Amino acid sequence: ASLELGPYRHFMQKEIHEQPKAIRDTLSGRISDDNSRVVLGEVGMTAEQVKAISKIAIVACGTASHAGLVGKYLIEKLARIPVEWDVASEYRYKDPMVDQQTLCIVISQSGETADTLAALHEARRRGAKILAVTNVVGSSIARAADWVVYTWAGPEIAVASTKAYTTQLVAMSLLAIWLGQQNGNLDAGLAHELIADLRNLSAQASSVIEHQEEAIHEAAEKLAHSEDVFFIGRNLDYAVALEGQLKLKEISYIHAEGYAAGEMKHGPIALIDDNVPVIVLAPSGPLFEKTVSNMQEVRARGGKIV
Ligand code: M6R
Repeated sequence: ASLELGPYRHFMQKEIHEQPKAIRDTLSGRISDDNSRVVLGEVGMTAEQVKAISKIAIVACGTASHAGLVGKYLIEKLARIPVEWDVASEYRYKDPMVDQQTLCIVISQSGETADTLAALHEARRRGAKILAVTNVVGSSIARAADWVVYTWAGPEIAVASTKAYTTQLVAMSLLAIWLGQQNGNLDAGLAHELIADLRNLSAQASSVIEHQEEAIHEAAEKLAHSEDVFFIGRNLDYAVALEGQLKLKEISYIHAEGYAAGEMKHGPIALIDDNVPVIVLAPSGPLFEKTVSNMQEVRARGGKIV
């Protein structure tokens, strides 16, 4: 193991550092040279079949489900196909509304998670076509699906998912663009911009790892003795906040909650005081001001903002 670890202290750290390469590998061969198209030859659906999809069901567990929630936002926005999102452990008990026009997307790093596999079988039994997003070639989920989009993250040894998650986000972005291009709902100019962004992603990930690690370290030291931490964000960043809270619980044993930023005032803000740091995900964009105003509500209660 020490040979495999190289300069890293543990596999999670190593895998965090492997993200730029993993992202590159996920994109490799899937975007055209002129950034105009996503190419997913492995999904054998014709444009007509994509146009006939009446809805998509995304089903997964844990981290993979959080990548799925990002996928839901992206597919609805870019391909204008309604998406239901469920955690796999609930799916088969809800008498899901699925028919032959439903595409079920299951996401699983390992391709072996029992609840996800059971949800896949449930959707299949009710007539859905199955598309798997997985990292492991020949896994049970890959074998049971009609089509597989591999994430090509390389082996993930740490229990806490890092590069598998980021590559699931990339795969879901590719899929959303692809679906929108197939059914004609995605504007060509926007597709071009998004694909160019994806092409830059690996370099951006490298730059965060290279330049921000120290800042991240400092923030982590400040948080390390907290008992409770909140993560808040809107839209895609709400989904990312959910992953943030899971990761913090799993790795640090600190209680954490992820909330849609605008939901804080409807109850949970009562828990905020000067012992409770709140990590605010507020990238530039149309929701920045909105998120900042939620941040101010938290600050007014004494919450420490990261
Ligand atoms: O292999 P899978 O993606 O199906 O695993 C699902 C979850 O158990 C997994 O994502 C888990 O939540 C993460 N490893 C947590 O970091």
